[in-house]
Amino acid sequence: MAESASRKGVGLTTAIVGVGNIGGALARHLVAGGESVVLASKDGSRAEALADELGPLAHAASVEDAIAGADAVVFALWLDTIKELIPQYARLLEDKVVIDPSNPVAFDENGQVMRTLPERQSASSVVATLLPAGAHYVKAFGTLGADALAKGAYREPRRAVLFYATDDDAAATTIERLIRAAGFDPLKAGGVADAGRIEAPGGDLHQFGLNGELVDLDQARAAVAAEPPV
Ligand SMILES: NC(=O)c1ccc[n+]([C@@H]2O[C@H](COP(=O)([O-])OP(=O)(O)OC[C@H]3O[C@@H](n4cnc5c(N)ncnc54)[C@H](OP(=O)(O)O)[C@@H]3O)[C@@H](O)[C@H]2O)c1
Repeated sequence: MAESASRKGVGLTTAIVGVGNIGGALARHLVAGGESVVLASKDGSRAEALADELGPLAHAASVEDAIAGADAVVFALWLDTIKELIPQYARLLEDKVVIDPSNPVAFDENGQVMRTLPERQSASSVVATLLPAGAHYVKAFGTLGADALAKGAYREPRRAVLFYATDDDAAATTIERLIRAAGFDPLKAGGVADAGRIEAPGGDLHQFGLNGELVDLDQARAAVAAEPPV
């Protein structure tokens, strides 16, 4: 990723792979914040329809072309799909910021949400290890329920926080830009080893671990500083 791409006003293209609840809300927020997005989805039609709706800052492409042409890639997909796709496109992810909003959940046959990884294993720890060495990995954009993400941008009088977790400085700079463009305040919760704190279920810094609340920067800093529950 070019160093210059981290500053607002300097060209940065963000691919959003998956335009469902999370990817769709994110695409709307980023375009409203002046960012260029390339949208991709499984059969392409949802990505094309959303790109048409969002105007000249949004384009639709195949998953491969979206990743190839982007500086940052958001995998707004279920964890099992991310695990399938990253190995397929690994060579295209070298030197890109890879943004992962996934939680370790799936639906069982009764439509109930169930955890898909052991209690103390984060989705982040799984996704990060699939990436090529040159990718810049960050966990972000999955710390609120999709409805809160869609409705919480540009909150007044104080913006709501979106936490992120990364070990990578370039990824941190880019995600802070994108979180601000999306209408939220960014706050680092820690490194990849801490990412479970911002995942659900169980993360104390996920919206669902904060009694469903959206927190401002002061509240978020206090929550990060508090010891995570054992
Ligand atoms: N929903 C929430 O409240 C929430 C909150 C926090 C985090 N998350 C996390 O965010 C992630 C996405 O959740 P979501 O609720 O946004 O999911 P979703 O609404 O079901 O959307 C999934 C998207 O993935 C696309 N997709 C599926 N297989 C694909 C493939 N092989 N190639 C390209 N695209 C593919 C689908 O494409 P089509 O449109 O063509 O079907 C769809 O656009 C999950 O990991 C979830 O844990 C969700």
